[in-house]
Amino acid sequence: MSYKKNDKVVLKLGGHLLSNATGNFNIEYLKKLTPIIEYLKKSVEKLIIVVGGGQIARQYINTAYFFSRNNSSLDLLGIKVSHLNALLLSIITNNPPTSIPENLQDVINQTSYRNIIITGGFQPGQSTTTVSALIAEAISADLLIIATDVDGIYEKDPKKYPDAKLLTETTIDTLKKIFDKSIIEAGEYKLLDPYTLKILERSKIKTIIINGKNPGNIIKAIKGEKIGTLIKT
Ligand SMILES: Nc1ncnc2c1ncn2[C@@H]1O[C@H](COP(=O)(O)OP(=O)(O)O)[C@@H](O)[C@H]1O
Ligand SMILES: [Mg+2]
Repeated sequence: MSYKKNDKVVLKLGGHLLSNATGNFNIEYLKKLTPIIEYLKKSVEKLIIVVGGGQIARQYINTAYFFSRNNSSLDLLGIKVSHLNALLLSIITNNPPTSIPENLQDVINQTSYRNIIITGGFQPGQSTTTVSALIAEAISADLLIIATDVDGIYEKDPKKYPDAKLLTETTIDTLKKIFDKSIIEAGEYKLLDPYTLKILERSKIKTIIINGKNPGNIIKAIKGEKIGTLIKT
């Protein structure tokens, strides 16, 4: 499959990919990721990257949680960290660090004059995965790639159940059953949440969940190689 088919691509990069469990940035990983982003930028017409907050957001939220149980405030901490991650990615990929879009309108406005946009979370109560789905819907993306730290969607959490089977293809209805217990608490959004699934269901955006720990998988997804989990819409 040629790149032209997927000329508008939204990439959600799980925040957990950028840093390790102690919250230190994984420099070796970033060194592998940056040339891939450069390559993507040249290969597609529009590339929109949404990055999560990851372990560093988790640390902020856990610290604030000792003093506040206000999920909106805790989410704001995660959002700010995701924006810092977005700024970091902008700088290390040599993309002018203009203002990080803070809402859908900002993203839409920037698409008229930029071919790469890197952003993070939008507002409390909403995961960065939902943001990626909302952007994909808004710009009628050809492909949404959700890069996380496991090989795709399993029938159950592969970290809790090592015997869980990877689904190479799945449907929104199946996903609703798998992720129905996703708790919506700050920093606790699971791989997919009900809001994201609703947006994918109505927009019918082609979506693939891949393991981003090997950034080369992003290229494979764009090329149409069989990888991760394809959501049939
Ligand atoms: N059915 C499932 N299939 C795949 N991963 C799942 C599933 N249920 C829960 N998970 C968990 O979701 C995690 C990825 O989501 P998340 O922790 O939000 O990371 P990120 O948003 O940084 O990619 C995986 O590491 C896995 O443990
Ligand atoms: Mg997540």
